[in-house]
Amino acid sequence: MIDAPRGRTRPRWRSPLRRALAGTAVGLLAATGLVATAGTTQAAADTAQTADTVLAADTALAASTLGDAAAERGRYFGTAVAANHLGEADYVGTLNREFNSATPENEMKWDALEPQRGQFTFGNADRIVDHAQAQGMDVRGHTLVWHSQLPGWVGSLGTNDLRAAMNNHITTVMGHWRGEIHSWDVVNEAFQDGNSGARRSSPFQDRLGNGYIEEAFRTARAADPNAKLCYNDYNTDGINAKSNAVYNMVADFKQRGVPIDCVGFQSHFNAQSPVPADFQQNLQRFAALGVDVQITELDIEGSGTAQANNYRTVVNACLAVSRCTGITVWGVTDKYSWRSGGTPLLFDGNYNKKPAYDAVLAALGGTPGGGDPDPDPGDGSCTVSYEETDRWGDRFNGRVTVRAGDRAITGWTVTVTVTSPQRVSTTWNGTPSWDGSGNVMTMRPNGNGNLAAGQSTSFGFTVMANGTWTQPRLGGCVAST
Ligand code: G3I
Repeated sequence: MIDAPRGRTRPRWRSPLRRALAGTAVGLLAATGLVATAGTTQAAADTAQTADTVLAADTALAASTLGDAAAERGRYFGTAVAANHLGEADYVGTLNREFNSATPENEMKWDALEPQRGQFTFGNADRIVDHAQAQGMDVRGHTLVWHSQLPGWVGSLGTNDLRAAMNNHITTVMGHWRGEIHSWDVVNEAFQDGNSGARRSSPFQDRLGNGYIEEAFRTARAADPNAKLCYNDYNTDGINAKSNAVYNMVADFKQRGVPIDCVGFQSHFNAQSPVPADFQQNLQRFAALGVDVQITELDIEGSGTAQANNYRTVVNACLAVSRCTGITVWGVTDKYSWRSGGTPLLFDGNYNKKPAYDAVLAALGGTPGGGDPDPDPGDGSCTVSYEETDRWGDRFNGRVTVRAGDRAITGWTVTVTVTSPQRVSTTWNGTPSWDGSGNVMTMRPNGNGNLAAGQSTSFGFTVMANGTWTQPRLGGCVAST
C-alpha cells in the first residue's frame, strides 16, 4: 500500500520553512567596521536598491541559543523529541527556544509506524513533524531499517516477503513525508561491535544478505529524492574495526554509485566509551569520501567541567570538518534521557542550563551563560523568514524577509546555507560574502539596513540546484542598532 503524501496547502519547497529566528541581542562582539554596498552579483534585481549607503559601526551580536549559534556556523543543532512530552510547557519552551532540528526519538521506528503489515500509524510522528515545521525546524527521520524496535511479523517473513515488506516500508514512510525530512537514517546499526567488522545478525541480514543495505538506499532515493540518505551507527565514532567496516561500505557505495549522502555518528559517550581521541580524524576521513557527516544522537555521561569539556571537544570536532553539517543531542533534558538515572544532556531535570550547555554554546560562538529566555521579536532585534518564489528545471529563487522587532535597527546580518553541490549564482538587494566552502553566504544590507520598528525588507538569490533541491537553511537575524 502506498500512503499518499500528507495533505498540505502547498508543497514544502514553497513553504516559509525556516523559523523566523529571533536574533536575540546578547553579548556584543563589537565587530565594528564599514560595510559598503558593493555591487552584488545580481541578475534578477527586480526590486534592486539603488542607494549606496555605508553602515558605520555595524555591531554584530552573538547568538544566545544553540540553534542560532550553530546556524551562524552553517550548521544545525537538534535534539531527539518525544511526542508524549509535547504537552509539557518547559519541555516545549526549551525545545522551541534552543533547537532548530528535531529527530523523533521513537515515533518513526518500524514498530511505531507499521505495527501490522501494511497498516501504518503516523499520528505521533506527525505531531512531531508538525510541531517542528511550525517552529521552522528541520526534521531528521529515524529510522527505516533497523534490527531493533521491529514488530514481530517482520521477523517471521520468508525472503521474498521480507524484501517486499522492507521496500514497501521505506517507500510508504518516506512517501508520507516526501519533501519534509531533511535527512533519513535509512539503515541503522547494521554492524556488530567488537573487532570483526562483521554485519550484525538481523532478519534483513540473515535473509536478504549483504545486499539489503544497498537495496534499502536505492529504494529510499526513489521514494524521496530530496532527502539526504544516511547510514547511522554507534561505536563508530573513532577509528576502529567497526568504523573501518562502515568506511569500506561507504567507499564501495560511492565508487559504484549506490546513493548515500551522509553518515551519522551516534556519539553516545560514557566512562567506558569516552570521546575518542581520533574523533575528528574519523569524521574527516568519512567526509573525504564525499558524504556529509552528522552527529546524530549525542549524549555524554557525567557532570560539571568534565562533561562540559567532552561536549566542547565534540562540537569543535564537528566545526573543524566542513562537511559536518549538524549535531543532534539525544534528548532535551536529563529527566527524559534513555539513560535512565543518567545525566548526559545539556539541560538538567529542571531545564536549567548545565556547564555542558555553556561549553557548547561558547564553542559555537554564542554567548555562554546568557541566553534570552524569551526570543520574542519584540526585543529590539530582527527576525527572518524564507520563501521560495520561483522554480525552473535547474534552479530556484529564494526570498528572505528581514523584519525589525520593536526597535529601529540600522543593519542586519543573515546567513544562508545551501547544500552542496548547489551554488548561489546571483543575489539581489543585499551584499553577500562567502565562507571557504562556498556553501555559506553571509548577507548584509545593500542600502536597506535601516528599518523602523516592525518594518521589513527582503533580499533574494538564485540557487543552481545541480540536482539537489534541498531548501536553504537560514541563520538567525543579527541586528545592529
Ligand atoms: O511507550 C512505552 C510505554 O507505553 C510503556 O509503558 C513503557 C514500558 O516499558 O515502554 C515505553 O516504550 C519505551 C520507549 O523507549 C519509549 O519510552 C520502550 O520500552 C523502550 O525500549 C524505548 O527505548 C528507546 C530505545 O531506543 C529502544 O531501542 C529509547 O527511548 C530511545 O532513546 C533509544 O534510541 C536509540 C536509537 O533509536 C538508536 N541508537 C541508540 C539509541 C539509544 O538506545
